[in-house]
Amino acid sequence: MDRRYRKTIVAGNWKMNLTPSEAKKFAASLLPLNSVKYTHIALCVPAIDIPAVTKALKNSHLAVGAQNCHFEEKGAFTGEVSVPMLRDLNVKYVIIGHSERRQYFGETDETVNKKALAALAGGLRPIICVGETQEQRDAGVTEEVIKLQIKLAIKDMTPAQIRRITVAYEPIWAIGTGKTATPEDAEAVCKFIRATLRSFFGARVARSVSILYGGSMNEKNAKALMQQPDIDGGLIGGASLKADAFTAIVEASK
Ligand code: 13P
Repeated sequence: MDRRYRKTIVAGNWKMNLTPSEAKKFAASLLPLNSVKYTHIALCVPAIDIPAVTKALKNSHLAVGAQNCHFEEKGAFTGEVSVPMLRDLNVKYVIIGHSERRQYFGETDETVNKKALAALAGGLRPIICVGETQEQRDAGVTEEVIKLQIKLAIKDMTPAQIRRITVAYEPIWAIGTGKTATPEDAEAVCKFIRATLRSFFGARVARSVSILYGGSMNEKNAKALMQQPDIDGGLIGGASLKADAFTAIVEASK
């Protein structure tokens, strides 16, 4: 991390866990984290949990995030949630293009781009996820894959918009598997992501973007990962559902 130029962010991705009543209780149990000043904390929760979590976190610095949004403002899109709906509930962040959405819900680089642009236009901060599969890593094409995902995700964005995005590097083979990328491997890709942004937008814009690592991050490996110069925090799945582990990860980002 490098706090001179960009924010450190620790975001929990609860995925499809916790009912609204459970979410309210669990979010309240994280309120002691309100005293943390060095890191921005976000809880990306299921859409239906947002009102309960917002209420629980009222008057705190902890931000609420969503896990997806639609790219249209409104209309005949049964089952979808729009950016204005999220904004109306004081949501600040939205995860876009998580590998689970790409894998199970047909999300493509094109929809990722449209959603990220819609989020920015509507005043949300997109957390754009990229990452390679095990096969791609084994084939030695990680950088090509990441470069293409980044390039397509940020298509048509202005430099001012790039300053408002966060990128999450989540190698698919590390998600929910207990297999974490080594700090060196994760840094190599995050550094490459920054270099890619630099090639399009220049050094000043590139150094202002927070790049997070995600994939089996826990209280044991968090510090070594976040000490890397281009890793500005974490996007945490499983460990964000345990108050002690999530708190320890936030503390490791000091
Ligand atoms: P895990 O931390 O459970 O591996 O999940 C990571 C993730 O997908 C965060 O978005």
